[in-house]
Amino acid sequence: MCGIVGYIGHQEASAILVQGLKRLEYRGYDSAGVVMLNGELELVKGKGKVDALAKKLQSASPKGTLGIGHTRWATHGEPNDVNSHPHLSQNGRISLVHNGIIENYHALKTSLQKKGYIFQSDTDTEVVVNLIEEIYDDGAVSFEGAIQLALQQIVGTYGLAIVNLDEPDRIYVARKGSPLLLGLGDGEMFIASDASPMVEHTSKVIYLDDGEMAIVRRDGYDIKTIKDEPITKEVHELAMSLEAIEKENYPHFMLKEIFEQPRVIMDCLRGRVQFDDHTIQLGGLTDVMDDLLSVKRLTIAACGTSWHAALVGEYLFEHLAKIPTEVEYASEFRYNEPLMGEGDVLIAISQSGETADTLAALREAQNRGAIALGICNVVGSTIARETDAGVFTHAGPEIGVASTKAFTSQVVVLTTIALMLAKRRQTITDERYAELIDELARIPSKMEQILAQADQIKEMAKHFTYAQNFLYLGRTLNFPIALEGALKLKEISYIHAEGYPAAEMKHGPIALIDHMMPVVVIAATDHTNDKMISNIEEVRARKGRVIAVTNPGNDEVKNLAEFTVEIPSTEDMLSPLLTVIPLQLLSYYIAVNRGCDVDQPRNLAKSVTVE
Ligand code: G6P
Repeated sequence: MCGIVGYIGHQEASAILVQGLKRLEYRGYDSAGVVMLNGELELVKGKGKVDALAKKLQSASPKGTLGIGHTRWATHGEPNDVNSHPHLSQNGRISLVHNGIIENYHALKTSLQKKGYIFQSDTDTEVVVNLIEEIYDDGAVSFEGAIQLALQQIVGTYGLAIVNLDEPDRIYVARKGSPLLLGLGDGEMFIASDASPMVEHTSKVIYLDDGEMAIVRRDGYDIKTIKDEPITKEVHELAMSLEAIEKENYPHFMLKEIFEQPRVIMDCLRGRVQFDDHTIQLGGLTDVMDDLLSVKRLTIAACGTSWHAALVGEYLFEHLAKIPTEVEYASEFRYNEPLMGEGDVLIAISQSGETADTLAALREAQNRGAIALGICNVVGSTIARETDAGVFTHAGPEIGVASTKAFTSQVVVLTTIALMLAKRRQTITDERYAELIDELARIPSKMEQILAQADQIKEMAKHFTYAQNFLYLGRTLNFPIALEGALKLKEISYIHAEGYPAAEMKHGPIALIDHMMPVVVIAATDHTNDKMISNIEEVRARKGRVIAVTNPGNDEVKNLAEFTVEIPSTEDMLSPLLTVIPLQLLSYYIAVNRGCDVDQPRNLAKSVTVE
């Protein structure tokens, strides 16, 4: 979703802003712009990519050492040049960029219009800049005071960076619901909505919290609440490396991230699971261990791919640790008056740690007295900071919008939590526990064996480039993988795809099956094998084109399918970690064949920071 960058220092700002916006491209956007302050406000913006903005900047060549920039993901008003950010106030002396949604913008706009304000754009953002101007021009308060008063009138969410011609050595920023960080340099300061634009400049960052604002100068900053109470913030050290956010030799981030999975899984297990003596130590959960051991039920809230990981987690918690588990869409949970209170535990799963609905779900659970745990990838993210305890996935930055390595790392974390609880609650035999841990150790090399078949999957994908629909079928633990396979395909190739529990196919989707319909069947050899074979027969009887993901030796499935991807056998409980990989690769190659923008699919955002 929208991204913010800002720079104040001694270097030419426009190059730093463009580079920062490039780093934010992965979040998903439709327009980009910057404003430079150098005796005047020079605004360059428009619909389209950051590269197009960079070209415009070359010909306009605005100079200056202070500026703010933005990538916009449209909410109010279509993606066009006028609606792009930055926005100028009516008198052209104040400019700002905004992430989030101003919910009461309509009322504020009407009131400003009555006072003579004429709006250029359809955005909610333009209301903020004019509201600040109106209060400031009244002359009763300073510019800082005007920002504070304006923010107190606003209902909704915002990350804001604001510049004013009257104060040419300052950038004001404020946060409520949309992340913002300050990067500390030597005689220069950086502003961004996530850490990726900071990495090449500084490793020292400050995360703003909701209700806070900062006045940023070349030589430092002041942080206070929007009610003007000064605060001192901790300076954090960024752990992210530059190479982790570069594509290296891969054509797309998504492919790089698919191939990183064996290493990511090892990173995720390192220091937590001791394979020689089969112990699991999750330091992030130590403080809540007693609560977890006595918990009567678990609730997991998440969105998108993280929600699919949650479904795998439900199965693991119920089967291994015998804890009844509910999985909720975070967006539904937050408004459903959940029956939750003291003694209950909510687990929020989020790669970005910034998804608005997941964050709201965790706050809802905490407000009701429950303990909120987090499984997050981004260290320093809002969800990671607001949970009572949790476990990081350590997958490294995930740049491709379609989540891959984050998913498998989430499943690994869920597996280790479930195994640890099972052992301590004595719901698993020592022998079974050891077997599962031993097999977990083998997962990375089994993933490598699947990745070695990428060329074969690429060839297979050619047969489905022009498919219009896809069906994915799985059972038990592989039903969430059917959902995830379908999601991957629709996200990046724009082919309509649905995931179903295999037997449920007969209650509707079977009506769609004909010779045009590819059906991906996850038929890992397990106790449901015979049932899956019957389902494949049902698809074939209607001339559907079967792509099977199965294990070596499963000749029956192989003989029935038009295409087969053979993956190494593993424990049923761990099979999602392997079955998902061919589906990730299949979607990737189909999307590439269709000429789609794999890393930044249309309309999608990496981090969904609005409801
Ligand atoms: C967006 C992304 C998905 C992601 C979902 C949840 O839709 O495109 O890849 O699964 O948000 O994001 P989270 O960061 O909370 O895991």
